Amino acid sequence: MLQRRTMLTIGATAVGGAALAPVLGRLGAAAGELPAAPPADHSAHANHQATALETRVTVAPEFVPFSVRMPVPRELAPKRRTRAADEYEVDITATTAELVPGIQTPVFAYGGSFVGPTIRAKTGRPVAVTFRNRLDREANVHLHGGHVPATSDGHPMDLIAPGAAKRYEYPNSQRGATLWYHDHSHGTESENVYRGLHGFYLIEDDAERHLNLPRGAYDVPIMLTSAQFDETGAMVYGNPGLRTTILLNGKAQPHFPVAARKYRFRLLNATNEGVFRLSLGGAPLTQVGTDQGLLPAPVPRTEIKFGSGERVDVVVDFSGLPVGTQLMLTDATSGGLLRFDVTQRAHDDSRLPQVLRPLPPVPPAVREREVVLSFDLAGPMPQGLVNGQTYDPDRVDFQIKEGTTEIWRIVNGDGGFGFLHNFHLHLTNFRVLDRDGVPPSIDDLGLKDTVSVPPGTSVRVAATFAGFLGRYAYHCHFLEHSSVGMMAQMEIVP
Ligand code: C2O
Ligand code: CU
Ligand code: CU
Repeated sequence: MLQRRTMLTIGATAVGGAALAPVLGRLGAAAGELPAAPPADHSAHANHQATALETRVTVAPEFVPFSVRMPVPRELAPKRRTRAADEYEVDITATTAELVPGIQTPVFAYGGSFVGPTIRAKTGRPVAVTFRNRLDREANVHLHGGHVPATSDGHPMDLIAPGAAKRYEYPNSQRGATLWYHDHSHGTESENVYRGLHGFYLIEDDAERHLNLPRGAYDVPIMLTSAQFDETGAMVYGNPGLRTTILLNGKAQPHFPVAARKYRFRLLNATNEGVFRLSLGGAPLTQVGTDQGLLPAPVPRTEIKFGSGERVDVVVDFSGLPVGTQLMLTDATSGGLLRFDVTQRAHDDSRLPQVLRPLPPVPPAVREREVVLSFDLAGPMPQGLVNGQTYDPDRVDFQIKEGTTEIWRIVNGDGGFGFLHNFHLHLTNFRVLDRDGVPPSIDDLGLKDTVSVPPGTSVRVAATFAGFLGRYAYHCHFLEHSSVGMMAQMEIVP
């Protein structure tokens, strides 16, 4: 049951209303986290209805750690296979989930579960997913990392009304990669994603299949999210710095039984805002992939750092370990998150090849742009800005010629506040060229679509904008930042 110990009684403080948000933001920053979204201000800012942050009392749920098994999200079967596409149907609903052992928590769900069903696609074989919105609020769906037409990208104003449905078409004209789908509704994406609108979308290509990496039951996607609860077990959508319960595939501190062999784990940081630094108690984690698929060669890691929206694929080899061994996946800040229990011996004919897949060459860039992410904390409400302007879904910030490559210098303009930002670009992928002029870090390897931009620093990336025309977003993937305006849009033109 929930422990009655109160962690922080924000609601009882003398500070209230509008003044609270900046205060919370600074509290969060002091804890190494990022600023809170403001309370809603529908009157002053009618077009931008960011969800209000709740200030209800948060309690630490009490439970026996590592007592429940981490589930693997179920794989969705197509409703139909036509000549043109595999067709899926997914309902968006309000339901409950047992995030913490013994407690039923109201959540939003794709396909009935807090971590939505996994869709497995193949390069070159299109998928169409019809999402039906059975919530009493607007919702939509963005395929994060997807190379998709603008009409299927989940533009923040392209919403599914309550009771309505929308068919999204995904051509899968891209390399194998760990993608994910999540809500992207204007101003409400942060609350909707927090409450459960997220799931995996895995693309596999032939080249990857022939490598014979661990597959099937040994290829396990793991979604990391964070939550805070009130004394009834309901999620509180409050100060992100207080979301201290970390969920792995929707379970707090689970265990996962493994056989003594190799596994592939596809790690996704689906927190609204946060960075994990994961290790396995010194045991090797071999990184094979990043946001947009395989690295050229495996990279041995002892610690992996990744922020909101980013993915890291690792292979862990349990084969040398006696049955009964336990290995703890640990975050540098939050401690033990997931315990792997070696429960049986196993035959293993999967491989971890020395060479995976070369990266495509980067075409020469035709121009360079600057993208500054920052907050304006001067007014009553924090506002997120990109190049000094808050998001306007009707404004085009950059026009980009289809087929060209550009270099973008992403600048974190919040060195003074100490706020981290995690930049994400729709439609395409990018390579990290440098950080403040020095070579990128080991966490920047390969094809990325989301990249961390620490306070006061800059990152240069090269991206090719090809294949589709139309309007696409780019934004900070700390969703309490994008939902208050730290988002802009580009238009790909002929
Ligand atoms: Cu994962 Cu525009 O988002
Ligand atoms: Cu995206
Ligand atoms: Cu940000």
